[in-house]
Amino acid sequence: MHAEDDDTSAADSDLMAKVWAAPVLAGPLPGFDPDTAPAAPGRLFAEWLGKALADGVPEPHIVTVSTAAADGTPSARVVMLRGIDSADCAVRFAGDRLSGKGRDISARPAAALTWYWPAHGRQIRMAGPVDLLGAEATRRDFLGRSPHSRAAAFTGRVSAPLGGPEEYERERRAAEDLVAAHPGRIPASHAVYRLRAEEAEFFQARPERWHLRLRYTREGGGWSRTLLWP
Ligand SMILES: Cc1cc2nc3c(=O)[nH]c(=O)nc-3n(C[C@H](O)[C@H](O)[C@H](O)COP(=O)(O)O)c2cc1C
Repeated sequence: MHAEDDDTSAADSDLMAKVWAAPVLAGPLPGFDPDTAPAAPGRLFAEWLGKALADGVPEPHIVTVSTAAADGTPSARVVMLRGIDSADCAVRFAGDRLSGKGRDISARPAAALTWYWPAHGRQIRMAGPVDLLGAEATRRDFLGRSPHSRAAAFTGRVSAPLGGPEEYERERRAAEDLVAAHPGRIPASHAVYRLRAEEAEFFQARPERWHLRLRYTREGGGWSRTLLWP
């Protein structure tokens, strides 16, 4: 079945005219030479992340995590990067085991990660199996957060329907009180996940559109590298 070709309203057309006029990959963009890129993708990731931080790219530690449910239904959301192992190209993120991503990962323990840093014209993709880390890593991750961030993790149940502002306020106060009274407590469902990349891809946009893509694939103890058409 095909969607109608001419179902765009005048308002949507106006909005899209503005979208097409918006600048994209305006630069100046950093250079990238795949020939001299590190042999291990985790090292290149650390290099690009370090440059993003040094150049003030906004929130380079925010990453989109894509998962699939038991029936294959895909979903994606952004999370915070909680750790990297650049030697092994593994990264950590955290969330609630009962959230959508938590349920997806327990059914299908794999995910894809996507970073996009517009100011650098850089996209990084990683994909691979995901492990749930143990109690000590979970404790360290959780207790390293601010009291407000810890309290937020104790409110309601992530992604469950919220009854309204009164329920929100009641839960928020109860959670702030709980964290103040028990600063070492950790929600039973707090989870730290570790994705070990099987594949990692680095996309460097160039203003004249002759973009570069370098894909690394884990092979035995090392990595093979392939240039891809952009
Ligand atoms: C900037 C930003 C950072 C976020 N960081 C996290 C995070 O580190 N962990 C997390 O579980 N959710 C985080 N969220 C919320 C998720 O995007 C998402 O709304 C939530 O995890 C529930 O999604 P799910 O039910 O699909 O798992 C963040 C949202 C934003 C906008």
